[in-house]
Amino acid sequence: MALSHRRPTRRQFLAQTAAATSLAALPIKNLAQAQPASTQSPTLKAASSSRNLLVGCCVHAATLKRDAAYTALVKQQMSILVAETEFKFGPLRPTPTTFFFDDADYLVNFAERNGMKMRGHNFVWHRQLPTWFDSYVTPQNAEQVLVNHIETVAGRYKGRIHSWDVVNEAIQVSDGLPGGLRNSPWQKVLPGYIDIAFRTARQADPHAILTYNDYGIEGEDAASSAKRAAVLALVRGMQQRGIPIDAVGIQSHISAGPKPDGSHTYGPALAQFMRDVQSLGLKMMLTEMDVNDRELPADIPTRDKAVAEVYANYLHTTLAGPDWRPGRIAYSRDRASAVIAVLTWGITDKYTWLNHEGARKDGQPERCLPFDADMQPTPAFYAERDALQRS
Ligand code: G3I
Repeated sequence: MALSHRRPTRRQFLAQTAAATSLAALPIKNLAQAQPASTQSPTLKAASSSRNLLVGCCVHAATLKRDAAYTALVKQQMSILVAETEFKFGPLRPTPTTFFFDDADYLVNFAERNGMKMRGHNFVWHRQLPTWFDSYVTPQNAEQVLVNHIETVAGRYKGRIHSWDVVNEAIQVSDGLPGGLRNSPWQKVLPGYIDIAFRTARQADPHAILTYNDYGIEGEDAASSAKRAAVLALVRGMQQRGIPIDAVGIQSHISAGPKPDGSHTYGPALAQFMRDVQSLGLKMMLTEMDVNDRELPADIPTRDKAVAEVYANYLHTTLAGPDWRPGRIAYSRDRASAVIAVLTWGITDKYTWLNHEGARKDGQPERCLPFDADMQPTPAFYAERDALQRS
């Protein structure tokens, strides 16, 4: 779908943003030339608020402390945050009997100080486990380790976390386990860890939206379809067992540049999955969106246009709610789409994980997020803002 948005000039964007927020230390240059704000919402936060939709990004405590322009942009644009790593098991757990909360505390306090909500990511994952995990955690003590971790962390932030990714990425169909479960370190020592984690999280913080979060469920290809089926079966089974779950997080690490297997196209199958999730009474969040451009030529205008079109198409599909149909703009303010929040995995290309994991072969920095490495809005910003505004 071609982008049909009137893009304000850089001066207009400066003016819109300056007029829309009271922040003095805006990251954008030439603020002195501010002009009256246009009718379009100049920030992602303003664009999404009319639909009671949260918009956010992942953040890094150390970067918030160090990079003033980054921090000003986060405050200016976002209404919900999630920690890129500081809430994970490894960073929180230096030893089997101790916790390190300084960075997580900083992020929760930062969000609250700036009127933003905070997501928790995550209690259980197969990555970034502490070095002591394999030697210390056994089938005999695994439940105690898991329950103690969740009770301590969720209890510390009780009532202050919008939603928790209780379990992250538990499905890996190629591992060949029943239900497509991933043969993860937790699965190996505690096969019932998913139910235990969600039950414990509910008791520790009844206020938080308990979320199952995963990736690779967005494309029209066979592998994505198989993973979606396994995720649906997982959450249906949890509901049948009376396990508390409130939402599904669709990570949305997606790509620009079509692939023959359809893994880089997003539409009917994803829309059907979202209808199925909604029919289970569950909410959804786009939890980690970015659009990698590694398949595209180096030319920046070409990449930016393609990435922005994926943002527009993907958000058209996911925010339109159950009435989505191919090719039809189905934005309607009166329909409650089950998507309650859209978060990108970072706000600026300057710090994207994609330059470290899955970088472009030509070594060019990725252009995958709403703001470029100079903190200036990319075409993807306008695509995201327009989709949020119209949704
Ligand atoms: O903090 C240490 C530092 O002390 C050390 O010197 C350095 C070198 O080893 O590592 C630093 O930790 C790194 C951490 O990011 C903080 O920068 C870890 O090695 C590195 O593995 C970790 O990568 C993160 C990854 O998750 C694993 O936690 C990425 O930044 C983060 O973007 C990525 O995010 C995941 C989501 O949580 C789940 N969905 C997929 C997504 C992308 O993989």
